[in-house]
Amino acid sequence: MTVQFLLPKWFDLHVHLRQGSNMVHYVQAQIEMACAGVLAMPNTLPPTAKILQQDDLPYWSLEEYRQMLLDAGADAFEQLIVPLYLTKDTTPNMIEQGAQSGLLQACKYYPPHGTTNSDHGRPLANFMENGVFQAMEEYGIVLCIHGEKHGLKGPDYFDSEINAERSFYEEDMVKLAVRFPKLKIVAEHMTTKEAVAFVKKGGNNIAGSITPQHLLYTVGNLVQGLRYHLYCLPLVKFNADLEALRQAVTDPKNTKFFAGTDSAPHTKKATECGCAAGCFTGGVAPQLYAEAFEEDGCDLGAPENQEIFKRFLCTNGPNFYGFKPSEKTFMLSKTPDVAKPLKMDNGETVTPLPVGLERPELAWSITDIQS
Ligand code: NCD
Ligand code: ZN
Repeated sequence: MTVQFLLPKWFDLHVHLRQGSNMVHYVQAQIEMACAGVLAMPNTLPPTAKILQQDDLPYWSLEEYRQMLLDAGADAFEQLIVPLYLTKDTTPNMIEQGAQSGLLQACKYYPPHGTTNSDHGRPLANFMENGVFQAMEEYGIVLCIHGEKHGLKGPDYFDSEINAERSFYEEDMVKLAVRFPKLKIVAEHMTTKEAVAFVKKGGNNIAGSITPQHLLYTVGNLVQGLRYHLYCLPLVKFNADLEALRQAVTDPKNTKFFAGTDSAPHTKKATECGCAAGCFTGGVAPQLYAEAFEEDGCDLGAPENQEIFKRFLCTNGPNFYGFKPSEKTFMLSKTPDVAKPLKMDNGETVTPLPVGLERPELAWSITDIQS
């Protein structure tokens, strides 16, 4: 008999929905994979980095970007969180203003120039010294962290024993957690065993999100055939890292690790001189997460394992951010499916994983989404 089970609709606590006419398609792809709500990343063009529209700074405000998302179909979501992009212009007063207006629940730290549209990021030390993190700690605002050291070259950036994420978690993150012991921190899109160890060791104020690609693939999958659809930042790592990530999410006691796809659509992935960082998993993320659980030997036909999967996908994230899991449901079935490229109005397409990799089929499919 086909394995199938009912789950609460889930929350994607890290996704890129961009701006402009493509947004509707990205939002729709979330809805079609039974996503009940999102945390929508602020690395928009321009960045979403002020609170109110009237504030005199050359950015979009949380107010404006939220409204764009709602107009693009995000009004169907039960939750819509937009974190504030931390820039050189972020002040403790802005944090206070955001918290008091009810518009601000989270802020996003980007390593300067470390990833797509992160040019406005500033070093972590700035926000440790200028009162921003202190204000966030005081007001209970969550810090979403892209945890990679910036400005590294060659072997320090990526090598078998050291990489930008590992040094960030072993150096910067440790300082941050000691200095602001009550600050709520999400280690986003974790890729290394060192990041897993950091989150496990931390208090209940520290959690981590994990993408489907980092639970399924290693750097070998990326370089064998240069499968550039798998190129995202932080990069997929080594097998020991993959195993640590899988162990974290399939642990029956897991309360700290949750889904955040980092689905990051690019209509042009490869250019003449490089490749845009970001994997697109709109429409396919729960299916890929299920596949990763099973590859780790966690048989999703067993009710106790379905419960572990549910915690990772549907309840740990809401518990950490402080909202209720969804009361609506969808069905996940072990019936094969195919991921389809997403078409934009102008004819461009965005290719979802696992298309373009060695195994393009999906082992799982989604049905019966309650609206
Ligand atoms: C993201 C994007 O394309 O916006 N890319 C990525 O590789 N994950 C940016 C980010 O979250 O790092
Ligand atoms: Zn991202």
